[in-house]
Amino acid sequence: MRFHIMTLFPDMIMNGLKESITGRAIDNGIFSVNAVNMRDFANNKYNHVDDYTYGGGAGMLIQPGPVYDTYQYIRDGLHKNHNIDPEKKLRVIYMTPTGTPFNQAMAEEFAKEEDLVILCGHYEGIDERVLEEIVTDNVSIGDFVLTGGELPAMMVVDAVSRLIPGVLGCDESAIYESFYDGLLEYPQYTRPPVFMGKEVPEVLTSGHHQNIEYWRLEQSLKRTKERRPDLYEKYIVEHKDKLDKLVKKGKIKM
Ligand code: ADE
Repeated sequence: MRFHIMTLFPDMIMNGLKESITGRAIDNGIFSVNAVNMRDFANNKYNHVDDYTYGGGAGMLIQPGPVYDTYQYIRDGLHKNHNIDPEKKLRVIYMTPTGTPFNQAMAEEFAKEEDLVILCGHYEGIDERVLEEIVTDNVSIGDFVLTGGELPAMMVVDAVSRLIPGVLGCDESAIYESFYDGLLEYPQYTRPPVFMGKEVPEVLTSGHHQNIEYWRLEQSLKRTKERRPDLYEKYIVEHKDKLDKLVKKGKIKM
């Protein structure tokens, strides 16, 4: 998979992703990240890509020309290097606080793409006309406003890339973590067996796998109810029969 990041701060992206798991996967050629500086497509001698907003208002806006030219440069590169039709509409995610909240289902959908373009805004945003022309998905990482789209873009690359086979050390770990079945992950423990007077829950050292599964489900339910009542309500409606049976048999308490 190839990620193409349209940004004014390419070093921020590359420095952020070169570490840890993403860095190792990039080095191993499992996916690639190409951060393209939109300032290289400025059409004035000052390398400015921003200008005042029509109609007034605080702040500057990124102009449409450099954004479109960056997009076209990415398409030309894909044509030259990978024989992809230069007119092909690519999946372009615009990171914006006005977008749809990002979630695991979106990450899974994006992971199916061969090429994913991520557009990072800065200043007050980007001229609407070029967004209409190239953007396929408007995505927010939460109800707060950051200074730019670079951190959100890195989050999307991280969440999507860990779903690509071979990125995580063990393919299974992508499946069992939080959100895959609609519940938050249960608490986990490692050595030492006693820390600050607190013991590891007994069931986890019992070796009884079925009981461990029940305990983990119960903990996930408890945690989800406390921290994410929205997810909890959805889960208990969708899994009513299974949960009723487990409670009746005394396997879990709710
Ligand atoms: N750019 C600035 N704030 C953002 C947010 N919350 N999500 C995505 N992109 C952003």
